[in-house]
Amino acid sequence: MKQWHKEIIAYQIYPRSYCDTNGDGIGDIKGIIGKLDYLKELGINTVWLSPCYPSPGDDNGYDISDYRGIAPEYGSIEEFKEMLDGMHSRGIRLLMDLVVNHTSDEHEWFVKSRESRDNPYRDYYIWRDPVDGHEPNEWVAAFGGSAWEYDEKTGQYYLHLFSKKQPDLNWENPKVRQEIADMINYWLDMGVDGFRCDVINNISKDFTRPYAGGNGPRLHEFLHELHVRALEPHGAFTVGETWGLTPAQALDLTGEARGELTTTFQFEHLLLGRVNGDKFDPEPVDRKAFVDILAKWEYGLASDSYPVLVMENHDQPRALSRFGDRENYPYESATMLAMLLYGMRGIPFIYQGQELGLHDPTFNSIDEYRDIETINAYNELKATGKFTEDELIKKMQYGSRDCGRTPMPWTTGSEGGFTSGTPWIKTQVDAGFTVEEQERDEKSVLNFYRKLIKLRKEIPALADGEFALLLNENNTSVYTRTLDGETVYVVSRFDESECPMPDCIPAGLTVLLNNYDSVGDTLKPFQSIWFKK
Ligand code: GLC
Ligand code: CA
Repeated sequence: MKQWHKEIIAYQIYPRSYCDTNGDGIGDIKGIIGKLDYLKELGINTVWLSPCYPSPGDDNGYDISDYRGIAPEYGSIEEFKEMLDGMHSRGIRLLMDLVVNHTSDEHEWFVKSRESRDNPYRDYYIWRDPVDGHEPNEWVAAFGGSAWEYDEKTGQYYLHLFSKKQPDLNWENPKVRQEIADMINYWLDMGVDGFRCDVINNISKDFTRPYAGGNGPRLHEFLHELHVRALEPHGAFTVGETWGLTPAQALDLTGEARGELTTTFQFEHLLLGRVNGDKFDPEPVDRKAFVDILAKWEYGLASDSYPVLVMENHDQPRALSRFGDRENYPYESATMLAMLLYGMRGIPFIYQGQELGLHDPTFNSIDEYRDIETINAYNELKATGKFTEDELIKKMQYGSRDCGRTPMPWTTGSEGGFTSGTPWIKTQVDAGFTVEEQERDEKSVLNFYRKLIKLRKEIPALADGEFALLLNENNTSVYTRTLDGETVYVVSRFDESECPMPDCIPAGLTVLLNNYDSVGDTLKPFQSIWFKK
């Protein structure tokens, strides 16, 4: 792991919803270029850009039809290079999205692959004969229905773990692996600094399992090969999107001597508030578990890796709506969550709009949604006949990925200054929740994030100190970060009520950051303090 890998403070841009400059209602690269100074002032040093490659858009760009191009709606390769230069000249690195578990069915490899059984591209994908006239196995796709799609022309099924327009690549084929390594080198040679690797633990399939998924027998081998062929020679940073791993499995993918990924996201705390992890089935959030899970990962990766600190992305509703109190303590709970999470050891990732303390937009009917997962889930649940329309709308409102995908509210003007045209998805602009207003307001979530990021960069114990959990009871937690005799205490009240200041906080500490104006004998609702000893 290079020093700069450890120092990353990343910001995710979902390009479709960031900033539109030509009035077509879709964010674009020029829009990002226009916001680079905003990003610099926020203090982040790395951008993760969600896919901006040519795509039919079945899954908003996660279905790629050309790995080496830029989607015309986002701009041109020249504009992309201008954006990259603009980032680099401001000390910001760029991570692209690497979506190599699957392509679009409109990618030329798949177009050729489905032409005939003996086409040279046939083995780029996973084709199987029907079994007794049915799907080859019972695997279910992440977006609903069977993971197998029958193709009349050649009389076989192809595998798709996501939508049927996202056929899975066959990583067992060495040609596929070479193509991917070459493509990675193409972007790294252009100056890109690394990748966020989409559902990467799925690339090796385990067909002995009854349910669809990855972590197959050749995962480590495939990743190590990419590392040797492309990533390592460029010193690239990689973060894997890996759902459902244990800390031990994450270490196996990221340990220093492994030569696989630099780090992985862990999302276990983001399953809270969902019955059995089902995003459309709400239950109260267990706040103690939230801290315990994060602490488990801190301890679990401490020996040889770096956790990623994340609570929002384009697949999640806004953290504030689920974990905070948007009605009574929007500012306090947004800032407390940031202090609790980003006080930990690891690499912070911030999702666009999180720095404003945005909560979920309101969707009034299914027509307002755009996400394939939401629309499919709605139709499936509706077909069961168990839910009223009102119940269905509440479920979608709670779990839909579109909650995090509405456009950035830049100004108080029309459509939040996102577009002069009709946005591709509704905008929600609430008073006090625009960049324009928050820049002016000293006590805004935006200005708080700026302070927090600055401190994380300045205080070595925050960047790399050892983690220890001292207390997690009655919705109050205390942990320390220690490096070279310097200790930072992070105390957080994850509750609407006050409580006494915990005994484990020694007297005479210096306040580094506080989301209330003062420190007293009690912790106020959602108060969090970073102290230094
Ligand atoms: C990842 C992406 C998600 C996408 C899926 C399939 O989970 O984050 O947005 O739908 O992979 O590519
Ligand atoms: Ca546009």
